[in-house]
Order: sequence, then C-alpha cells, then structure tokens
Amino acid sequence: MGTIHTENLVKTFGRGQNEIRAIDGISLDINRGFHAIVGPSGSGKSTFLQLIGGLRTPDKGKVQINGTDLSIFDDESLSIFRRRNVGLIFRQYNLIPVLNVYENIILPLELDGRVADREYIKQITRLLGIEDKLTMFPKDLSSGERQKVSIGRSLSTKPMVILADEPTGNLDTRAGLEVAGLLKMTCKEFNQTVIMVTHDRELAEAADRVIYLRDGKLEKIN
Ligand SMILES: Nc1ncnc2c1ncn2[C@@H]1O[C@H](COP(=O)(O)OP(=O)(O)OP(=O)(O)O)[C@@H](O)[C@H]1O
Ligand SMILES: [Mg+2]
Repeated sequence: MGTIHTENLVKTFGRGQNEIRAIDGISLDINRGFHAIVGPSGSGKSTFLQLIGGLRTPDKGKVQINGTDLSIFDDESLSIFRRRNVGLIFRQYNLIPVLNVYENIILPLELDGRVADREYIKQITRLLGIEDKLTMFPKDLSSGERQKVSIGRSLSTKPMVILADEPTGNLDTRAGLEVAGLLKMTCKEFNQTVIMVTHDRELAEAADRVIYLRDGKLEKIN
C-alpha cells in the first residue's frame, strides 16, 4: 500500500439526466516520488486531486494517506490532518497580499499554533531561490516568484504529500519548467510524495510516473 491509496473512488456531480461521473472507480497506489497526472480537460484530474487532499468527499470508495482513512474525520479534524500532512499548490498562488513572503510561507504553521523552524525555512527559501525576497509583498513579485512562495508555503509544515493542480498554468515555458524542476528537487530532498496535474507533456515527462486519466477512469500509468 502506498503513501496514497484509493479504492473504487467515485465522485458524481449533478442529478438525474445531468449527472456527471467526474471520478468513476479509481483504485490506485501512489508512493514516494514525483508524479504527474495528465488527461483531457474534464477527465477528472482536479476532482481526483481534491478527493485525495480531502477537499471533497467521495460518493463511494476510500482514500487513505499513509494508512489513515480520510473518512474517519469530521470537517474540523480533517482540516487539521490536511494542514499537517498535505501541502496544496494551485494555479492561482492564493498568497495573502498584506503578508510579506516570509509571513506567507509560515502561515500554515501559525494557523496550527506552531513556531517556525527558522533554519528549515531558510533552507526552503534557499532551495527555491527566494531567500532575498522574504520582506517583499506578493504584488511586487513576478508570477514565477509568487509560485515559488506558494511552494515554500506548502513545504513549511514538512508535509509528506504535496498536491499541485496545474502549478505552472499561469507561467511561461521557462518559469513553468523551473517551478516543476523545483517541485521535483524538493520532492527528493524531503522524500515526499508529490502529485502534479499538468497539461504540458514536457513537464509530465520530468515525472517519475505519469498517471493518465480519461472520462474519470484510470487509463494507464507509465
Ligand atoms: N463543482 C462541480 N459541479 C458540477 N460539475 C463539476 C464540478 N466540478 C467538476 N465538475 C465536472 O466534473 C468533470 C471533471 O472535472 P475536473 O475539473 O476534475 O476536470 P479536469 O480534468 O481537472 O479538467 P481541466 O483540465 O479543464 O482542469 C467535468 O465534467 C466537470 O464539468
Ligand atoms: Mg482541472
């Protein structure tokens, strides 16, 4: 069983004639390493990521993270579990405009009432190449730098799992390659399970494994 284990996962939206099976019975084990999820638009990539991250509840089937079944949690304990174990990265960086780079990065720790390990935060920001931007505000950063800050924020709690939904979607090719390369590098450095949804074949090829979805089903894994 992997770090992430799903069994017969089903998620539908809408009812009756309008029902859409966004995820249609996916059973999958994902272990440490850098994984890409690819598939046509509407194939269920984002929904699958949201189910794994406990952002959505499945209609059927189960999700386990490191052996813990997400269905045992109520809303509050699930958000605590997620905050401690899962780092989330989105296409729109979701940085807090009134907080500077350092404050954005340590926000998940503060929300959890934990004190930031300054050495570790320094190590992350050095790896991401943003160590000289810590007192700057999001509005003064380039898109690529903003995404690096959101990667830093996702790493700050030392999660075992990082879920990224098209993290390079707003970036040009060069910045996109750099961000994907950084995710791959931090994945190795911190021995994590990273799952990145992408439309970009070149980026997907950088992954250790590529998961192909089609019509809510697992098509193949390479
Ligand atoms: N909140 C929702 N309400 C209704 N239908 C939804 C909802 N979220 C997703 N869907 C539907 O579920 C299917 C899968 O959507 P999903 O967003 O997971 O696809 P995707 O593979 O991420 O697509 P894209 O590459 O365009 O981001 C689509 O048909 C979509 O319309
Ligand atoms: Mg999507």
